[in-house]
Amino acid sequence: MRLPRFLSFASNDIAIDLGTVNTVVYARGKGIVLNEPSVVAIETRGGVSRVSAIGAEAKLMLGKTPDYIRTVRPMRDGVIADIDIAEKMIKHFIDKAHGGKSRLPRSPQIAICIPSGATLVERRAIQQAGTNAGAGKVYLIEESMAAAIGAGLPVTEPIGAMVVDIGGGTTEVAVLSLRGLAYSNSVRVGGDRMDEAITSGIRRRHNLLVGESTAERIKVEIGSAKPPADGQGRSMRVKGRDLISGFPSEVEVSEADVAGFLAELVGQVVQAVRFALEKTEPELAADLCEQGIVMTGGGSLLARIDEVLAAATGLPVVVAENALTCVALGAGQALEDPVYRGVMTDT
Ligand SMILES: Nc1ncnc2c1ncn2[C@@H]1O[C@H](COP(=O)(O)OP(=O)(O)OP(=O)(O)O)[C@@H](O)[C@H]1O
Ligand SMILES: [Mg+2]
Repeated sequence: MRLPRFLSFASNDIAIDLGTVNTVVYARGKGIVLNEPSVVAIETRGGVSRVSAIGAEAKLMLGKTPDYIRTVRPMRDGVIADIDIAEKMIKHFIDKAHGGKSRLPRSPQIAICIPSGATLVERRAIQQAGTNAGAGKVYLIEESMAAAIGAGLPVTEPIGAMVVDIGGGTTEVAVLSLRGLAYSNSVRVGGDRMDEAITSGIRRRHNLLVGESTAERIKVEIGSAKPPADGQGRSMRVKGRDLISGFPSEVEVSEADVAGFLAELVGQVVQAVRFALEKTEPELAADLCEQGIVMTGGGSLLARIDEVLAAATGLPVVVAENALTCVALGAGQALEDPVYRGVMTDT
C-alpha cells in the first residue's frame, strides 16, 4: 500500500534552520537535537586545505587562529557566502544530528529554512547543498513562516499575525495569514551589525580595539535597545588592544554607552516594522491590533527591544518563549504535521 506523502516521512527526517550565526536542527520525534554556531575552521598546509573544525569547536577559535587556520562563517549576511563550505557544514550537522555517520539513513527528508529575501539562485543553491549532503528530498520553508509556526501563531487560519525575527544577519518582518506570507521584508540589520556598532563605538570613545566575541559578550551582558531610565545603568570591564600604545588594555563600558552605539540599528528595525504596518491590508492590520507582534531570533533577546517596538507601534509585543530555536521548531512541525502541508516548497 502506498502511504500518503506526509505519512511516508521516516523518523530520520530533520528540519534545519541554517542561520547566519547559529544552526539549529530538529529531528522528527525527538525535537531540537543540535544547536551550534555556523562556523567552520579551515586549515591550509602545503597548499592543501581541509576542514579542521565545525560548529562550537570552530567558534572557540574565532579571532585566535594561527595563520594556517582561518575561520569562516559560510552564511554571513543571511545568505550563503561560500556554498562549498556551507555544504560541508550542512553535511556535518546532519551526520551529527543522526548520531554519527555510521547511523546515517540512506536518504532522509530535510526541510531547510530560507530567508524570504533569498533569490531563486540562492534557493537552488541551498537545495542542492542539502541534496549533496545526502538528503533524499529537500523542502524549503520561509524562515518567517517557520518562526510563526514555532511560536504557535494561527498561520493556518484567516487571521493576520506579525512576526519580527531579528537574527544574526537579517531582520525579517512578515505578516502571515492562511498558510502564506501576506507581506514580507528583510533588512540587513541583525546581531552581527550590532556587534560591529559596539566595536566601532568603543574604538571611537576609548581608542580600544575589541574582538568580535568580546563585542558580542558586551551586547548580551549589558546591551539594550534604549538607555536605562536613570544614569549609566550597569557597566562592564572590557579588554582589548589600545590603539595608541598598541598594548593590551582595559576600559569600563556602561549600559548607556552601549544603548547609544545600538540606537541607529534599533531605529532601523523599528522603521522596517512601521513600513510593514503601512503596507498591510486593513483587514489584516485590524487583526494585528489584537494579535500584536511576536518577536523571535537571538536579537529579540536584546533588553527592552520589545518595549521600544511596542512604544513605536502602539501594538502589544511579545518575545517568543523559545526565541532562538523557534524557526527550527516550526520547520520541524511543518514537516511532521499535515495541517501545515503547503507551507513548504520542494522545487
Ligand atoms: N541576550 C541577547 N541579547 C542580544 N543579542 C543576543 C542575545 N542572545 C543572542 N543574541 C544574538 O542573536 C544573534 C543570533 O540569533 P539567531 O540564532 O536567531 O541568528 P541566526 O538565525 O543564526 O541568523 P539569521 O536568522 O539572520 O540567519 C547573535 O548575533 C547573538 O549575538
Ligand atoms: Mg534565524
